[in-house]
Amino acid sequence: MAEHITKVLSGKGLAAKIRTDLKRKISQSRIRPGLAVILVGHDPASQVYVKFKSEASEEVGMYLETIELPEDVPQQRLLKIIQKLNRSKKIHGILVQLPLPDHLEPFDVMAAIDPMKDVDGFHPENTGWLSIGRPHMVPATTLGIWQLIRSVQMDVAGKHVVIVGKSNIVGKPTATLLLNKGATVTVCSRSTADLSKQTLQADILISATGVPNLITADMVKPNAMVIDAGISKRQGRVVGDVDYDAVAEVAKYISPVPGGVGPMTVAALLQNTWRAMRHIEGFTE
Ligand code: GUN
Repeated sequence: MAEHITKVLSGKGLAAKIRTDLKRKISQSRIRPGLAVILVGHDPASQVYVKFKSEASEEVGMYLETIELPEDVPQQRLLKIIQKLNRSKKIHGILVQLPLPDHLEPFDVMAAIDPMKDVDGFHPENTGWLSIGRPHMVPATTLGIWQLIRSVQMDVAGKHVVIVGKSNIVGKPTATLLLNKGATVTVCSRSTADLSKQTLQADILISATGVPNLITADMVKPNAMVIDAGISKRQGRVVGDVDYDAVAEVAKYISPVPGGVGPMTVAALLQNTWRAMRHIEGFTE
């Protein structure tokens, strides 16, 4: 049997390039992009994500405001803070880390952010722009996945993409973007009957569920591209959705966890903040 060569889609390497490029652009810009990151409560995973995003934005030279609010913050207070950031001349991007505590209504919170400053792309207006194929802000994980796919010159037009996970944060916007790019897209969820029947059709298989080892080698078509956007903790280790070692024997391309989609999400958030600044300040692309 011919030796199977799998290419690792290194989000870590590509994200580092994107950050270097942004750092140079920011150093030459007369306006410094400003990002506000709001964290409500003490969810440990959210604290880690916010730390990554904050460190990366400062590293590339952005102005950063991190706003930490108590678990029981009233929604009105959170909305007031968002409105103030909407008016701030120094802030071009606003991100509210999800999930929010149960007493807060995430859709009302997302909708309060100025769509021009919505660097997460979760405002219904931005969701709408993406769905009609004229995106303004694309959610960071989706943009990160897209850049990973493009990094190996993969043309998605006519390809069958199967996405496992239908979240508003990853599954749905990624399906929408890839549909717009001409792919044939199947979206599965935990209630999909005979999941492997679907996944075996995939030229590009994207998993975003947070269920460790959900995607096993027998579920992957030989020479497919496998992108793991899942993240969870197992025995103190960060793992994705994909049984990496076994799937790497079958797939042509595979993204690792950690070091795959995660760093791309952070890099894409920075790109969105840069673009928001350019847009708000009236620069033409
Ligand atoms: N929680 C998990 N992923 C994300 C994300 O991309 N943005 C925000 N704001 N919260 C998240």
